[in-house]
Amino acid sequence: MNINKNYDNLEQSYLFSTIAKKVNEYITKNPDKKVIRLGIGDVTLPLCKAVISSLHNAVDEMAEQSTFRGYGPEQGYDFLRTAVREYYNSHNVDLELDEIFISDGAKSDLGNILDLFAKDNTVLVPDPVYPVYVDTNVMAGREVKFIDANGENEFLPLPNRDVKADIIYICSPNNPTGAVYNREQLKEWVDYALLNKAIILFDSAYECFISDESLPRSIYEIEGAKDCAIEFCSLSKTAGFTGTRCGYTIVPKSLDKLNKMWLRRQTTKFNGVPYIVQRAAEAVFTEEGQREIQENIRYYKENAKLISDTLNECGIWHVGGKHSPYIWLKCPNNMKSWEFFDYLLEKGQIVGTPGAGFGKNGEGYFRLTSFGSKENTIEAMERFKTLFK
Ligand code: MLT
Repeated sequence: MNINKNYDNLEQSYLFSTIAKKVNEYITKNPDKKVIRLGIGDVTLPLCKAVISSLHNAVDEMAEQSTFRGYGPEQGYDFLRTAVREYYNSHNVDLELDEIFISDGAKSDLGNILDLFAKDNTVLVPDPVYPVYVDTNVMAGREVKFIDANGENEFLPLPNRDVKADIIYICSPNNPTGAVYNREQLKEWVDYALLNKAIILFDSAYECFISDESLPRSIYEIEGAKDCAIEFCSLSKTAGFTGTRCGYTIVPKSLDKLNKMWLRRQTTKFNGVPYIVQRAAEAVFTEEGQREIQENIRYYKENAKLISDTLNECGIWHVGGKHSPYIWLKCPNNMKSWEFFDYLLEKGQIVGTPGAGFGKNGEGYFRLTSFGSKENTIEAMERFKTLFK
C-alpha cells in the first residue's frame, strides 16, 4: 500500500482546526475567562420559523409509511431544484432543472468537483483565499499558482493575460476580505477564461450579503459565464444551515461534458441530502422564508457595522462588512497575524482568524466575523476599545 504523499505538502492541520485547538487550550488554562468567538464564520441565530415548520412536517411524513422516503435522487428532489431555479430567475438567470445539483454544502462540492479534472491542470487561486481551494488541489498533487490580492487592487485581482491557467477560483463576496467584484471586473475574468478555455469555480456562498443591486450575485449574470463557470452556493450563511447542511452547485449543460460527468460522479459517490433537510431548504425560498432570513441577515449586518464603527474609533484600517459578514483589518501596531491572534486572546479573550492563515498576502491582517450574537459583539467591541483606543 502506498499512501498519498501529497498530504505531506499540506499544513499540519486545517486552519480552523488549529484555531479551535489553540482556543480550547486557552480555555482549559483559564476556565474563569469569558471567550468571545468571532473566528470561524459560524452562525448563531436559530433557523427561521418557516424552515422549522417545514422540518417538522417532513419529520412527520417520515413517520408514516404512506409518506416515508428512502433513497432520493442523488442530485436533489425536483421541488428544491425548482425553488433554486426560481431564485436564480429572480436575478435574471435562467437555469434548467438538470443544471442544478443539491449538495450538503459548498465546501464539500468545491473539493469534490476536482474529480472531474485531470491532474495536469494549472490552478489559479487568489491570495488570500479560503484554504479549501488550495488544500484540495494540494491533496490531488496539482500545481497551484497564486494571484496577489492586496490593498493596491482593493483585494480584487484581475486576470493577467500573460499567466496561463486552466482552473480559476473566484469567491465574491470574498472570504476572507469581504471584497466584491462588480460586473465589469467579473466580465474580465469570464473573457479571460473563455480565451484560455479555462473553467472558473465560482464560490457565491456569501451572495445574500450583497446589498447593492448593481453588484452581481451569480456569475451567470455575466454574459458568457455559462460557457466557462461552475457556481457553488450554500444555505449555511444565507439561512443558518451550517449545522443542517444544504447547498447547491450549478453545472451548466453548455460546459461540454462536465454536466454529465458531475451527474455520473454524484450518482456514484453521493446518496443525496436527507429529504427532511431538502424540505427545510425549500422553505428558505418561500416568501415567508425569504422575509425571515432577511431579518437574520440584517441582524448580522448590524453587528458588522458595529465592528466597523469601533475599528474606526480605534483608528484601525479595515475593509469588508458591507456586502459580506467578514471584516478584514490591519493588525494594530504592525503586529503579525498570529501574534495579534495570541494578543487578542490573551488580553481581550476575543477569537478572530489570522489573515496569514489565508495565504502570504494575509500576513499582518486579521478577520473578524459578524456572525456572533449582538450581545457578544457589543462586549467584544467594548474590549477592543479598552485595548486599542
Ligand atoms: C469561514 O469561517 O471561513 C467559513 O465558515 C468556513 C466555511 O464556510 O467552511
